[in-house]
Amino acid sequence: MKQRILVTRATFEDVIARLRERFDVEDNQKDDTPLVGEDMKRRLADKDGVLSTGSDRFDAAILDAAPRLKAVCNVAVGYNNIDIAACSERGIVATNTPEVLDDTTADTTWAVMMAAARRVTEAERWLRGGNWTQGWKYDRLLGQDVHHATLGIIGMGRIGQAIARRAKGFSMRVLYHNRRRATKAVEKETGAKYVSLEKLLKESDFVSLNLPYSKEAHHLIGARELSLMKPTAVLVNAARGGIVDDAALVQALKEKRIAAAGLDVFEGEPKFNPGFLEVDNVALIPHIGSGTLATRMKMNLLAVKNLTAALAGKRPPSLLNPDAWAKRRR
Ligand code: DGY
Repeated sequence: MKQRILVTRATFEDVIARLRERFDVEDNQKDDTPLVGEDMKRRLADKDGVLSTGSDRFDAAILDAAPRLKAVCNVAVGYNNIDIAACSERGIVATNTPEVLDDTTADTTWAVMMAAARRVTEAERWLRGGNWTQGWKYDRLLGQDVHHATLGIIGMGRIGQAIARRAKGFSMRVLYHNRRRATKAVEKETGAKYVSLEKLLKESDFVSLNLPYSKEAHHLIGARELSLMKPTAVLVNAARGGIVDDAALVQALKEKRIAAAGLDVFEGEPKFNPGFLEVDNVALIPHIGSGTLATRMKMNLLAVKNLTAALAGKRPPSLLNPDAWAKRRR
């Protein structure tokens, strides 16, 4: 008898085909409806494993409805959707997809940073709106220079480091803040200088958030932090919704207390603060940080590898809760 797995959301047919070779698969290819509450519980009741996305919630109540579940394998590097402690208590292993998306997410961070700095999305709206009736104009849609500016990176993990490396090409000064100071080798290679959060906010022309969401990171950037930033500064969040207090950010953008923001993630996705639609000085994209075909495929394949290993009783390469390993369900 094949082990049973749930693939919570639609994914590449090749990935489903690969999983079917080994498992009895319940997929969501046709409807791709987000699975929540009783629906999720019912589907998990007889499953040994689940291939999940960052928007599926696995809390204690959901896990209690899955007595056979051995592995929750996210197709995402972020895993704030999974209650890791609750998984460990129940002997369920949890995995994510680190590394394979670092460069793609760093590229997206740069895309949204430059879009916000140079008003790219605003300029396109203006053009599409039929406003371009006069030729060149000396002060049309003036933005902020990126080159030779100061970039402040909050969260100096692999993605933060990839962003810092790209900044060299723009001759930028790079500051960073992180819970733990990076190694000397990382500082040397990226050219980034460790500073306090306050100094970073005060001195940066661009502030990029690149840390995982956690209770401690909730509203790390709120009204007070925004008030420390330069009025010409740009805030970029391609990490997770909830790290920024979006209501405070809308207010700061409305009052032009900072110049602009570039956002890939929002509190309460897929809903978001409607105030963002009322301001021009924000570039908005819908959580597509890792969104290239090559990278999404790599994320899927890594998640499949994790799931296959876990259900074969082998330690998965991206295990998040080593404490669950000794007491894992078999
Ligand atoms: C991630 O990998 O965490 C991305 O945000 C996609 O969920």
